[in-house]
Amino acid sequence: MPTLDDKVVLVTGAGSGIGRAHAELMAARGARVIVNDWVSASAEETVARIEAQGGVARVCVADVSDGAAVRSAFAQAQDALGAVDVLVNNAGIASGLVALEDVDADSIDRMFAITVKGTMLCTQAVLPGMKARRSGSIVNTASIMAFGSHARGSVYAAAKGAIVSLTKTWAREFAPWNIRVNTVAPGRVSTAMTAHLSANAAYEEDMRRRVPLGRRADPEEIATVVAFLASDEASYVTGQVISPNGGEVL
Ligand SMILES: NC(=O)c1ccc[n+]([C@@H]2O[C@H](COP(=O)([O-])OP(=O)(O)OC[C@H]3O[C@@H](n4cnc5c(N)ncnc54)[C@H](O)[C@@H]3O)[C@@H](O)[C@H]2O)c1
Repeated sequence: MPTLDDKVVLVTGAGSGIGRAHAELMAARGARVIVNDWVSASAEETVARIEAQGGVARVCVADVSDGAAVRSAFAQAQDALGAVDVLVNNAGIASGLVALEDVDADSIDRMFAITVKGTMLCTQAVLPGMKARRSGSIVNTASIMAFGSHARGSVYAAAKGAIVSLTKTWAREFAPWNIRVNTVAPGRVSTAMTAHLSANAAYEEDMRRRVPLGRRADPEEIATVVAFLASDEASYVTGQVISPNGGEVL
């Protein structure tokens, strides 16, 4: 089992769903965890859950698309828990399936601000420290939709496609400092983001037909992949996109 002993991990969007699963698993594997979310009550709940299991965690409230807020909140959290060794850029929002003709410009701006700009701003905030220590692991979050798995998903797919591009660009750019950059691209996962879909019987039946393993993932099944990428066991893995998706995209 990959250990994260002595590592400081910062997970964005860790107040819920997959991000909370990352935070809890990494804490259970020995990391001190900085729990970012823009909803402070959600981040506090994740920290309380980790502490109840004997782990070490700290709340870090910031909207990832707000550079000044990210820099200030990340600096305060690092003063408390130590310099970030592992950054998991997980925060994200959903967008429904919409025909391109019906996509409104504001939804494009909002998606790109949180997904693409947010990933860039959070990475900028930890990069100088990782470079100074000549060590780091960054795990970004895409989706199978980056590979064209769904029609009518332009906005989300384009933003997640950009995450794959950033991952490969940064893997080359940061390698001289021994900083690895990878992406997890989940398939369908049971979280608040997808709860409205799980409640739709016809959608679920279609999902079971399309996914060879015949079910959604639990958030913990994404977290185990990210914990590996974060750990020193993945020391020769960089620029890769790993897609736990039940076989939906092969
Ligand atoms: N659930 C899925 O099926 C699925 C599939 C593929 C990829 N993903 C990706 O996984 C990530 C997590 O998704 P989830 O399903 O756990 O969603 P979720 O809605 O359960 O959790 C997302 C968390 O991010 C936080 N957040 C959103 N915008 C933020 C911002 N600007 N700043 C800080 N925090 C913010 C939310 O408050 C929430 O706590 C997202 O990037 C999502 O796109 C999810």
